[in-house]
Amino acid sequence: MCSQYKKHAAIAALNYVSFDLVVGIGSGSTISYFIQVLSTVKNRLIGVISSSNNTTFFLRQYGIRVCDINTIFSPIIYIDSVDEINNNLESVKGGGAALTKEKIIASISKKFICIIDQSKQVHTLGFFPVPLEIIPISYSYIKQEIIKLGGVVKYRYGIVTDNGNIVVDIYNLNLECPILIENKINSLPGVVTVGLFTYRKPDVIVIGTKYGVKIL
Ligand code: 5RP
Repeated sequence: MCSQYKKHAAIAALNYVSFDLVVGIGSGSTISYFIQVLSTVKNRLIGVISSSNNTTFFLRQYGIRVCDINTIFSPIIYIDSVDEINNNLESVKGGGAALTKEKIIASISKKFICIIDQSKQVHTLGFFPVPLEIIPISYSYIKQEIIKLGGVVKYRYGIVTDNGNIVVDIYNLNLECPILIENKINSLPGVVTVGLFTYRKPDVIVIGTKYGVKIL
């Protein structure tokens, strides 16, 4: 069912793309539906940047040319999904291990459109673990520090990020005030990116639900 809702939301999200902006593309299954939809208007796009090697591969398969982010000086509209989002529009991302580039593109974007199915909306973040991209030698240190915050760290085996780092997932964090946790974790040496997005929140949320597509 979720995949149908994701697909419906992805189709509806095309209405929110401004063709005078460079389009930044996130990662994950919802975004792969969006890429299929985007390919129908690929000749109208002035430029596309990608948040992961997987997304780049997928975009190219659909004949969409991908630009290097550092060559782009025009405003960007960013389209991505999340793993969880609360009523304050704070979210957890990084289930697909692409959180670092996703956060960079979200941060520089003029507009951020988030596409989700209804299951991603939560009252309090934390059911989905918080992903952390870290530098490999910092693993033991970061694990100790996360335990002090009440978290439980699980190493994501078999994953090397596009940036050559590792990913750990943190369970059991108290995320009543996620911005505090984002700040604390960001201050730990060795952390590349924490998958809490509390600063750059989406401007538009396109939600696939059993009653049809809802826009927030
Ligand atoms: C990848 C992400 C994705 O947006 C998030 O994991 C949602 O994925 P999906 O669309 O497959 O449910 O943050 O790093």
